[in-house]
Amino acid sequence: MFAELRSRVVFVTGGGSGIGAGIVDAFLGEGAIVISADLSAPEGLDQIGERSWTVRLDVSDETAVESVLDAVSEAVGTVDVVVTAAGTSTMGFAIETTGSDWDRNLDVNAKGSFLVARGVARRLVSAERNGRIIFISSQAGKNGYRGMTAYVASKHAVLGVTKTMAVELAPHGITVNAICPGIIETPMKHRERIEGGAIRGMTAEEVAAEDRSQVPLGRTGTTQDVAAVALFLASDLASYMTGQGLNVTGGMTMH
Ligand SMILES: NC(=O)c1ccc[n+]([C@@H]2O[C@H](COP(=O)([O-])OP(=O)(O)OC[C@H]3O[C@@H](n4cnc5c(N)ncnc54)[C@H](O)[C@@H]3O)[C@@H](O)[C@H]2O)c1
Repeated sequence: MFAELRSRVVFVTGGGSGIGAGIVDAFLGEGAIVISADLSAPEGLDQIGERSWTVRLDVSDETAVESVLDAVSEAVGTVDVVVTAAGTSTMGFAIETTGSDWDRNLDVNAKGSFLVARGVARRLVSAERNGRIIFISSQAGKNGYRGMTAYVASKHAVLGVTKTMAVELAPHGITVNAICPGIIETPMKHRERIEGGAIRGMTAEEVAAEDRSQVPLGRTGTTQDVAAVALFLASDLASYMTGQGLNVTGGMTMH
């Protein structure tokens, strides 16, 4: 679909599951060289296919992020496109949310996304290359949702970083955007329905039915729905867009 992506090196965090895995498949389908970085990946940087690599990475570990990006530069080349899909969530009402719930959500979703984007941006700027940074925020980066205080805070933070890095990196030809998915069928969403249902006195099936009823397009999203927008943002078609948070929500969020 996007021939220009064939020459790109794409680094995807959270590539081992859900939305990140869908994004890895989509870029491989375009012929890009793709590194999937995930906490659950086997140790070390490994080439697992002609254009496909995996690496174990905890995105919240600053030293590990820098050493993995150095290893990728050396073995694969400068990263042109980064997508930060690694994420976590804890369910709990604000008055029950602990400091460690807060730290976990902010460390992985906000700090981890920032550290990876910063590392890629540093290397692009010093190589005088342009590139694309694509954060995965959430509609929870724009709205409040009951039982998700720390997660919602972390996703708002990602949109703040998106706008700031977009301004700073524009003179270097690097665009910075975020995707704000709605309700996407992934292992995280299935766990959230169980845990979120438990604190609201609902079954996971009742939460799933409520989810569907809230989406104007009448269905929840797939990882492919999100991956399609990541491809677009990485493509030449999106060259005049930066600092945006694009909703992929079936109409559930409209601002
Ligand atoms: N599923 C949804 O409805 C939805 C909606 C909006 C936003 N999101 C966001 O999309 C992203 C992906 O979510 P998903 O639903 O695919 O979840 P998922 O749980 O299926 O996948 C998340 C992946 O991130 C990895 N990960 C977790 N912590 C990590 C760390 N510290 N370092 C590296 N990797 C780590 C996990 O191992 C997993 O492979 C998350 O940022 C999530 O907040 C999801």
